[in-house]
Amino acid sequence: MVASAGAQAGEQGWSSRTAFILAAVGAAVGLGNIWRFPTLAGENGGGAFVLVYLVCVLLIGLPLMLSEFVVGRAGQSDAIGSVARVAEESRVSRKWRLFGGIEILAGFLILSFYSVVAGWVLYYIWLSGGDFFGNLFAGEPLRGAFSDMGQDAVSGMMGELFASPGRLIGVHALFMVATITIVASGVHDGIEKAATWLMPAFFFLLLGITIYGAFTGDFERALAFMFTPDFSKLTAPAINEALGQAFFSLSLASGALITYGAYVGREVNLAPTAATISVADTGVALIAGLMIFPIVFAVGLDPSAGPALIFQSLPVAFQTMPGGSLIGLLFFVLIFFAALTSSISLLEGPTAWAIDRFGLRRPAAAIMIGGGAFVIGIACALGYNVWSDVRPLGFWSIFAEADILDTLDGFTGKLMLPLAGLLMSIFVGWKADRRLVEMQSGLSGGLFLAWRFLVAWVCPIAVALILVFGLFPELLV
Ligand code: PFF
Repeated sequence: MVASAGAQAGEQGWSSRTAFILAAVGAAVGLGNIWRFPTLAGENGGGAFVLVYLVCVLLIGLPLMLSEFVVGRAGQSDAIGSVARVAEESRVSRKWRLFGGIEILAGFLILSFYSVVAGWVLYYIWLSGGDFFGNLFAGEPLRGAFSDMGQDAVSGMMGELFASPGRLIGVHALFMVATITIVASGVHDGIEKAATWLMPAFFFLLLGITIYGAFTGDFERALAFMFTPDFSKLTAPAINEALGQAFFSLSLASGALITYGAYVGREVNLAPTAATISVADTGVALIAGLMIFPIVFAVGLDPSAGPALIFQSLPVAFQTMPGGSLIGLLFFVLIFFAALTSSISLLEGPTAWAIDRFGLRRPAAAIMIGGGAFVIGIACALGYNVWSDVRPLGFWSIFAEADILDTLDGFTGKLMLPLAGLLMSIFVGWKADRRLVEMQSGLSGGLFLAWRFLVAWVCPIAVALILVFGLFPELLV
């Protein structure tokens, strides 16, 4: 399907529009929805954060997602090559490929810590699986999870994991190997197959657990927490956080979507596809909140517990729930599916670049890049134990408290993604050939003008302001 010379990485392309949508929804829906979104919403006071997040998705995220697809399909190459080609065809400097480079680097860095967190998920599958099957064989399948253990021991499981570099690195390695294996198998036989199996299973599990939570948890309190905005919580860093989360969750500015766009056939209309993906991703984030917070409140846990929220709090909740041992296991399997379809998109961006740029074979490229990300991830894992005092950007107020993983997460989310998005909006809104952009977008008339207005004016101005004041909140006082 993709025939151009520059697209060696995606020789095969997607086999259908559905395959593309599933792969892109798979890229978007991941730890960002189920782990990062509830964590940030909890830390930033709930409703106000959710509101800003939704505005960011609608006015900035969705227009930029379409821009990424447009650049990818027009450029028919990896994130750097595609931008260079569109720049050439538009007769502007090829230097614009800089933002493609920032995207690929961001994707690579995100992959490194993403795999560490996904490793925690694997560890919990192991723990809850052992517990569930232990119960099953003892003839008592429907009790709560870990009901032989005291509550302190259950919430302490995370601490045990964090204290052990060997376990952290082991599960991180396992997850990275799974990711590399799928990407090495190709766009059609690897990425697309994984998405078509995992995503439907994911949605099935998500709905099941949410319905269960609605009946057993404190659903009303969760609704109030998520949808009653307290505007005193809307600080500049919180707004920056919401914007970064919109980028992260929609997989923007990380090389993934330009690359996926290059594998899309000409017959696919990109605008409604981008809308479908954004709606699905946002829906899953909200549902994930409605799945997690009722449980958090029902058991009296603190919603602002930070990155450990779902790992520390939920096993305690599953402990007291009827059927908790099964639900707990399914919950972590659900997160694992979501994380895997996202991590393959994170690896695919830099891998496609290495294939196109250096003529590497796909498996070699995937192994080298995945291996590099694995090594950086080791530093993140050690940041919980032997290097726990390390604060890599401790001199910068907003990163003063951040350990190695949080620093990488914050640096990519708050800085690199918005910066690449800012450059992309200027490129697509002002520099790229208008006819080419219009034709690729599939929009016409008023809708095209509205999209172009958002990309050319709203995105650059809003993202620039949020970047400056979010990164240097001192400027506001
Ligand atoms: N969107 C993914 C999530 O929400 O977990 C994370 C992600 C995937 C970010 C792919 C960036 C990316 F390119």
